[in-house]
Amino acid sequence: MTKAFIYFLVLLTVFSSCGGKKTKYKIGISQCSGDVWRNKQNAELDMESNFHEGVTLCFATAYDDSRRQILQIDSLVSLGIDLLIVAPNQVENISEVIDRTAESGIPVIVFERKTGSTKYTAFMSADNYEMGFQMGRYVATQLFNKGRVLEIKGLSGSSPATERHEGFVNALKDFPEIEIVASVEGDWTQEKAYNEVKHILPHLGNIDLVFGHNDRSALGARKAFEESSSIKKLPKFCGIDGLPGKDGGIKLVRDSLLDASYIYPTCGDKLLILALDILEGRPYQKETLLSSAIVTPENASVQYMNGEEIINQQNRLEILRNKAENYLQELTNQKAMTIMTASVVILLLVMMVVVYKYWLQKIRINSEREKMAQQQLEFYTEISHQLRTPLTLIEGPLSRLSSTDEFKKLSPENSEMFTILCRNAARLSELINRLLEQQSGKHSGELSFSEIDTMTVQNLNPAAQNIVKTPENAFTLLIVDDNADILTYLRTILSGSYNIFEASDGNAGLQKAEKEVPDLIISDIMMPVMDGLEFCRRIKENIITSHIPVILLTARSLDENFVEGFQSGADAYITKPFSQDLLLARIDNLLKNRRLLKNIWENNADNSNKAETQEPQQNNEETFATEDVFIQRFKAFVEKNLSNSELSVETIAAELGLSRVQLYRKIKALTGCTPVDLLRKARLACGKEMLSLTTKSVSEIAYSTGFTSPAYFTKCFKDEYGIAPGEIRK
Ligand code: FRU
Repeated sequence: MTKAFIYFLVLLTVFSSCGGKKTKYKIGISQCSGDVWRNKQNAELDMESNFHEGVTLCFATAYDDSRRQILQIDSLVSLGIDLLIVAPNQVENISEVIDRTAESGIPVIVFERKTGSTKYTAFMSADNYEMGFQMGRYVATQLFNKGRVLEIKGLSGSSPATERHEGFVNALKDFPEIEIVASVEGDWTQEKAYNEVKHILPHLGNIDLVFGHNDRSALGARKAFEESSSIKKLPKFCGIDGLPGKDGGIKLVRDSLLDASYIYPTCGDKLLILALDILEGRPYQKETLLSSAIVTPENASVQYMNGEEIINQQNRLEILRNKAENYLQELTNQKAMTIMTASVVILLLVMMVVVYKYWLQKIRINSEREKMAQQQLEFYTEISHQLRTPLTLIEGPLSRLSSTDEFKKLSPENSEMFTILCRNAARLSELINRLLEQQSGKHSGELSFSEIDTMTVQNLNPAAQNIVKTPENAFTLLIVDDNADILTYLRTILSGSYNIFEASDGNAGLQKAEKEVPDLIISDIMMPVMDGLEFCRRIKENIITSHIPVILLTARSLDENFVEGFQSGADAYITKPFSQDLLLARIDNLLKNRRLLKNIWENNADNSNKAETQEPQQNNEETFATEDVFIQRFKAFVEKNLSNSELSVETIAAELGLSRVQLYRKIKALTGCTPVDLLRKARLACGKEMLSLTTKSVSEIAYSTGFTSPAYFTKCFKDEYGIAPGEIRK
């Protein structure tokens, strides 16, 4: 066997139960042999260890091989054992390794077999000489002091073999008629005993008793005798060990397979207690002799029963221990599970808290950002308002001045200076726009720099700035603004083309609008008392003024302000600073593009379909629907009272809750006709219908439609339809 292979085997046989639990003491057990006696002792050691906290046992079995035992002890030492329990295979061979171990500071308990080393810490064993001696005496009595004996010795060089032999021989010295025929060299195993006896049996002659140094050897010898055909009567067989249990020596004696045995105590429990006494510094006995007893056919049954009982109790203890271990394991698992679950729950909670905090922080940052952006926006809007109003008052008058005769008379230098003034005012306006766009991140839709330049230069063209006197039938405008300069400026540029009314806040504007029913309203947004948006909303809600187009004028140029403006019902939105031309064009456009209702008397059809408009306005359908309801009420009242020639505009206005002037202005604005015209048209339309559907005479029809004379009916009819009433019937 190579060294490496031996070492492999060593490792295989060591450490069988080494490790595992939480260790306080690691105890190495080096057994010389592997058999039932050793197994019993190991089990006792193991059981005892359960009663002591933190004890780990490391078992090694040398299988009767001294070299292997030496290697195993060295391995145990290198494993870091705190104490070594050793049953040396042979006295001398193992001494050196015991010395080595003890010298390295590890306490050594030599058990059951002796050693040549003197460095061990303690020794525990039964008295093997005494056992041999007692067995010799017993044999003498069994043979009645006369007979032939065969001895089967244990492993040569092992102390029990030597001592048992000496004790046996010495005991028989007193019985000269008892002859030890042969002392065969065994090795504690059954096989060796069997083989050796089988070999010498033919040369032995009659044998009365066989003494095996252990029960296994005695049994091996018996087998050899039983097999021998020349043997007529089997000898008596005696052994040593006297183990309890079904394969033990006690049962062999009870069953008469052996004639006697001697209990060789294993005492694993005592051995471990001794080891712990040494390790924990308690007083201990250096040499312990274990007491023992002979097993004979007389006491075998009782001893067997005792043994069985002990084994039973041990088994029950083992079951209990396993249960306790299982519970302990379960408890550990549950603990681990609880800790894991708690950890996961805590982790989840922590994660939730972190996420929640992050979310809150994000919301806070966002709202702070929004607040800051809003504040910034408001700040710049405010600045813009502050800057744009004076700018309007610079750009506007400049533009106006450039169209005067005095301007035309200016020297080229002064004219140039004036141009520079205009251009730089436009530039300033552009710069403010750019600044606002950048801050709000939006495009305001203002004129570009070049456009403003062009506009300013165009304004310098004297031909474009002729001031015209207000024409007779000019439209009426209401201007509402709290800034006196703006009012003056607007009046100046608009009074040439329109009749102007003025008001300095929304409230005053409302009263003025109701009273005058203007054709168009221009209003600032930011005003005291009532702002422009509220003013516009009220104008559009009022039946008297709801039809009037409103232009809102403001420095606010952000999209949301436009939306706000249009939501209030505004028809157009002009931002400051504005050019005179732009404003005039907007006003002109709104007035020209009013949706005029034509032929409101025809078939009572949906009049909105007949509304004429050159181009869609910014006004919404809702406004128009309001007007439609008004017209329907007007129509219903007129139609009901058509035959009444006395029906007057005042009566109709009163019915509709308007003054005569208000009705006049509203009807004119909505239809392009006066109420009187509409009333006449209604009478004629009714007359025309009667002409085609009835056989009534023209005169009858004229009176029944409220005309005071048939001649006037005929004249009006001809004017309206281009034919005489009579021609309808042809
Ligand atoms: C067990 C054994 C026993 C014997 C003892 C002697 O290993 O062989 O049978 O009594 O050892 O040491």
